[in-house]
Amino acid sequence: MPLRRLAPHLPSPRRFLRSLNPSPAMSPAADAAHLATAADPDEDLCSSAAESAAAAAEEVAPARPLPRPPVSAEERIERAWSHWRRLGAPRLMVAPMVDNSELPFRMLCRRYGADAAYTPMLHSRIFSENEKYRSMEFTTCKEDRPLFVQFCANDPDILLQAAKMVEPYCDYVDINFGCPQRIARRGNYGAFLMDNLPLVKSLVQNLSANLHVPVSVKIRIFPRLEDTLAYAKMLEEAGASLVAVHGRTRDEKDGKKFRADWDAIKAVKDALRVPVLANGNIRHMEDVNNCLEHTGADGVLSAETLLENPALFAGFRTKEWKDDGDENGDSGLDQADLVIEYLKLCEQYPVPWRMVRSHVHKMLGDWFRVHPEVREELNKQNKLTFEWLHDMVLRLKELGGRVPLYRKESALQTTANGVAASNA
Ligand SMILES: Cc1cc2nc3c(=O)[nH]c(=O)nc-3n(C[C@H](O)[C@H](O)[C@H](O)COP(=O)(O)O)c2cc1C
Repeated sequence: MPLRRLAPHLPSPRRFLRSLNPSPAMSPAADAAHLATAADPDEDLCSSAAESAAAAAEEVAPARPLPRPPVSAEERIERAWSHWRRLGAPRLMVAPMVDNSELPFRMLCRRYGADAAYTPMLHSRIFSENEKYRSMEFTTCKEDRPLFVQFCANDPDILLQAAKMVEPYCDYVDINFGCPQRIARRGNYGAFLMDNLPLVKSLVQNLSANLHVPVSVKIRIFPRLEDTLAYAKMLEEAGASLVAVHGRTRDEKDGKKFRADWDAIKAVKDALRVPVLANGNIRHMEDVNNCLEHTGADGVLSAETLLENPALFAGFRTKEWKDDGDENGDSGLDQADLVIEYLKLCEQYPVPWRMVRSHVHKMLGDWFRVHPEVREELNKQNKLTFEWLHDMVLRLKELGGRVPLYRKESALQTTANGVAASNA
């Protein structure tokens, strides 16, 4: 299926140059961190097929007339639910991850049970101005649905401009109000907008009033529950059709150190009328079921664990999360098999090598702990190739041992094409 690289939206070279002069609202240093370094081979696309793929980009669908604005809150809520249901009421979601929830990884997770996926966060201003950034950071294909395209922003009009470019290709345009990193502080976006709720409100209002697709938001919680609830209600009233809640505060950056607060997520779910997704502490399917039961949320997002185990939503577990008893058997699927599958998807859907490198490190982390010399060799490769990576996986296998994924016997059902079907 042809890859979409938004060719019809490419701005003129003059516009590209202008993009190098950031608007006053954004810090130049923070912007530079979002832009690729041309001389670094990790910034090249991982296939020579990239050019032909770009040339094959399809025409953008013609602009549709805007749907009639909802006349009442009731109608808005009803529309949010009917859209959600039309998408099949997805429950198992690949969370947005910079450099990590890119097209081939999303497709891998979809093969293994993910019902929907978010793109990595895209910087709305750079996206709207910089053709290279767009073509490197956002690709999709017909099968990549339901899809949330996520932006960070602090200017309603710039956000709308960026969102208009992607709306034909996605099911939600999402705003990131959760990023707690220093780069977000410097760029004045993400969780730092929790200090400027009028701006948050205008970002959501402007987008939801002018897009064909619904707007979703991803938020963190405030230390005080009443602040979180007031925030979530404001977002719903401003036009958000779906709210994903990461149950940690802006200061709780380390997901391993701080457990996500499922009680706070439950309180948000109880307070809102649009679909709510829960995020945090999802490491295997038992967590999924417990979280849905505890919070009443309509779905869950997983991030860190999926990076290590993209087959999580099909009921597979890494050794770390295997039940103590012998209940979870060796599924026959190995993390190295997933890497091979991922590499094949990258050949089909080229992305920058830095993304491929990052996934190989995460999926093969357990192997590398046993054979650190192979990791060192990988680190020394200035310019990666698929051939080298396939050879490396073969070499690891020849060195002996396996890093299997585990699954309950009862869950070992596969579809005719061999793809995992059960949610265990
Ligand atoms: C590598 C990585 C990149 C991330 N990038 C984003 C991002 O682009 N946008 C966002 O909203 N959250 C981002 N996050 C946060 C996750 O979406 C998620 O909220 C967080 O990791 C908690 O989920 P978890 O406990 O399943 O890891 C990122 C997390 C990781 C690990």
